[in-house]
Amino acid sequence: MQNTIELIEKIINEETIIKATFSGIRKKSEKTFNKVTIKKVIIQNEEKHQFEYFYDKNVEHKNLNNNDSIAEMCKLLETYFKQAVINTIDSDYQILISKKGKAKILKKAATRKFEEASHNRKKKYILNEGELTPFLIELGIMSAQGKIVNSKYDKFKQINRYLELVSDCIPYLDKNKTIRIIDFGCGKAYLTFALYDYLVLKMGYNVEIVGLDLKENVIKFCSDLAQKLNYDDLRFEQGDIKGFNQFTNVDMVISLHACNTATDEALAKAVNWGAQVILAVPCCQHEFLKKIKNEKMIPMMKYGIIKEKLASLLTDSVRANVLEIMGYRTQVLEFIDMEHTPKNIMIRAFFDKTPNTKKVVNQYKQFKNEWQISPYIEEAFGKKLTDKLN
Ligand SMILES: C[S@@+](CC[C@H](N)C(=O)[O-])C[C@H]1O[C@@H](n2cnc3c(N)ncnc32)[C@H](O)[C@@H]1O
Repeated sequence: MQNTIELIEKIINEETIIKATFSGIRKKSEKTFNKVTIKKVIIQNEEKHQFEYFYDKNVEHKNLNNNDSIAEMCKLLETYFKQAVINTIDSDYQILISKKGKAKILKKAATRKFEEASHNRKKKYILNEGELTPFLIELGIMSAQGKIVNSKYDKFKQINRYLELVSDCIPYLDKNKTIRIIDFGCGKAYLTFALYDYLVLKMGYNVEIVGLDLKENVIKFCSDLAQKLNYDDLRFEQGDIKGFNQFTNVDMVISLHACNTATDEALAKAVNWGAQVILAVPCCQHEFLKKIKNEKMIPMMKYGIIKEKLASLLTDSVRANVLEIMGYRTQVLEFIDMEHTPKNIMIRAFFDKTPNTKKVVNQYKQFKNEWQISPYIEEAFGKKLTDKLN
């Protein structure tokens, strides 16, 4: 079933379902449904998947967020149905489960028309052209008339994609308290302002957001803008991630495109604080390039560009696995199309109250041996991680 779980995660996180139908019930009883369908719906400005359960005499509904949708779809295939047909904007998938529980996946070009989903796709954007958005205007992305500036269209898309990835984190954030968020290496803070706008002005959360960066001029620019926009609970500070010791607990830690091992420092802080949510998009990863050795991989590593890409993928794999070892349910997602930036991998992690990490620890140790590496992240995490590995 692993291939099915991966496919379902990809469909939910990266594609848009037009319709999905689960059918071919394995064991019929009076209490079970005969068929389940799924479509996308918007409820109170939030995207959900609506599951329709067809019983003999009635129909029941459940509206689920992305993570719960993944879990429910996997359960439907593991427990109830022999087949699922999933039509997305991009492809048609058919999943067939054998009597022994083995899954076969067939993929074809999409047969459902784009128009059928365009209504949903339009609503997918959290920020829309034509809706005057002060922070976008101040940052020069939107004109005072609400038009997206041509040269800033990619940035606008990136911000929307970021907010889409943030919106999946909402169920992990407690609306009844002030959510403390740190954005490490915030830079000019397009994404930090977008986060504030989304959580406070659109979703009604109480937040305390701090953007941290090494650069004095950037911090001055962002602080002035936060003041101008009256974003009272957003502040910026100059400093190094490693030396940031202001808090003992933080709910959400963000580190987008912070350079090289700065990402590891950010992850270490997040885990020490017991952050519920972590979002990291690593950048310019030089650490493993000189360190990795693997005789079997010479046919790949003898080419500079391939070795460089491989080294970054290995670094991200190490980070994602370390987060799992530290008790986080971790996803690796595409942040933005490759055509816009090569730095497109996002590590998204949610604190898991009941993690089972033994298998991951063993796999991680073997992986390190195979590549003969001792990753910096272990140094950044210190004893907390070493204890788990021993
Ligand atoms: C490429 S910019 C990314 C800005 C923003 N997060 C984004 O994704 O649009 C990276 C920023 O990280 C900051 N940075 C790098 N290492 C850092 C560290 N150790 N502590 C604080 N800031 C750091 C840099 O100064 C720079 O402004």
